[in-house]
Amino acid sequence: MPVRQAIHFLGQAATHFRQTGAIAPSSRRLARELALAVGDVPPGGVVIELGPGSGSVTEALRICHPAAAVIAVENNPAFARRLTDRLPAVHVVHGCASALPEHLRRFGHDRAQVVAVVSGLPLLSLPPDLVARIFDSVRDVLLPGRRFVQFTYSARAFRRLIPTGFHAEPRRRVWFNVPPAVVLPFTRMGDAA
Ligand SMILES: C[S@@+](CC[C@H](N)C(=O)[O-])C[C@H]1O[C@@H](n2cnc3c(N)ncnc32)[C@H](O)[C@@H]1O
Repeated sequence: MPVRQAIHFLGQAATHFRQTGAIAPSSRRLARELALAVGDVPPGGVVIELGPGSGSVTEALRICHPAAAVIAVENNPAFARRLTDRLPAVHVVHGCASALPEHLRRFGHDRAQVVAVVSGLPLLSLPPDLVARIFDSVRDVLLPGRRFVQFTYSARAFRRLIPTGFHAEPRRRVWFNVPPAVVLPFTRMGDAA
């Protein structure tokens, strides 16, 4: 990650700390682990990224899944603008992660194409009612068997947030990140489950 992007990230974190929830972008190692946790993406598949920030995970998604359409949903206009300029092949949305069906429609995709949702959102520091709306929105775009991948700096604190309707897969700790992080993959269960 170039120094310029790290400095921009730090500036945004300083002015919008609760919403940004980190002082540095994810390391390349963490970004790659998140992208690999998506699994295979067939041709025509869509991966939705929540909270791309300065784009380290977005880049890893592009590298690991070159055939996928990536929709990156970011509600900080400064991040969204820079990401649009830097990664023109990505569908960048300036908007909230709680409105995913609407963002998907805007690009002419439907939920049958969505292979995974990858989130860098700071769910532990967002208001609980917003987190509940974001989880509803994620459930709305993921069919059973599809993946939701989140990372956290505290797997212990995250226990209170496990989304309903998902099965937790084995987690993976990534030491090479500031601070060290844990990748939490979940699989969407059937509606009757
Ligand atoms: C911890 S940063 C992660 C940035 C990047 N994914 C990374 O790993 O380096 C969290 C990001 O989520 C964004 N964010 C926070 N609330 C959001 C929301 N409701 N909808 C979309 N993005 C949001 C923030 O603006 C910020 O860019």
